[in-house]
Amino acid sequence: LCALPAGTRALVFWPINMASGLFITLEGVEGSGKTTQAAILGDALRKNGRPVTVTHEPGGTRAGETIRAIFLDPAVSLDVASELLLVLADRAQHVREKLRPALAAGEIVISDRYSDSTTAYQGYGRGFDLKLLGELNRLATDNVTPDLTIVLDLQVETGLERTRARAKGTGRGSDRFEGERAEFHRKVRDGFLAIAKAEPSRVVVIDADRPVAAVTADIRRAVDEMLARR
Ligand code: TYD
Repeated sequence: LCALPAGTRALVFWPINMASGLFITLEGVEGSGKTTQAAILGDALRKNGRPVTVTHEPGGTRAGETIRAIFLDPAVSLDVASELLLVLADRAQHVREKLRPALAAGEIVISDRYSDSTTAYQGYGRGFDLKLLGELNRLATDNVTPDLTIVLDLQVETGLERTRARAKGTGRGSDRFEGERAEFHRKVRDGFLAIAKAEPSRVVVIDADRPVAAVTADIRRAVDEMLARR
């Protein structure tokens, strides 16, 4: 910059995330094992010596946990637009309070669900206009986009069975989404698969209807390939 003649305007380009960190998201239908795999991946990457933040949506911040309670409460009825704006408010806070600072500090951030869940659930599932949803998602994410997204894919019936068994085991009832019909969840699954098809360089689909260790190994391979490319 010093070598530029006086009066010359210099443009400085920042990478989109404005960060040296790495952002990985895990996505998928109910019961696809995202939470388990996010924890396993976080532990594995920590062993490599890099700081890792494992987080989730909805939630991940104080405001987010309060929003999450309304968002998932089966006793609360929400219009599609309200549902969308709630989850985006959660994301806007999560990005600014947690994700961006961690990425700026060079951390590996793993989020159990992120913007693709909104496209799949509120877009494909509920039928909200995908173009407007995309624009609103950009407002919420403030250009913090995943470097890698793993979609854990399985038949919705298998996933819902897992979630219901888990709910029974812990004595809690189904949340607002778990209580939806299989037809809704099939649209959500199709949504994730459509996102993966449209963005093959970012999104990797992994068959989640297998033992945990097999899924873990495939996730690890996808992460290592992405790290090697950088
Ligand atoms: P959660 O308890 O985190 O469960 P899961 O293990 O399925 O992630 O529930 C989050 C629910 O919120 C889940 O049913 C999907 C839904 N959701 C949306 O509808 N839109 C979104 O943008 C996000 C992040 C989640």
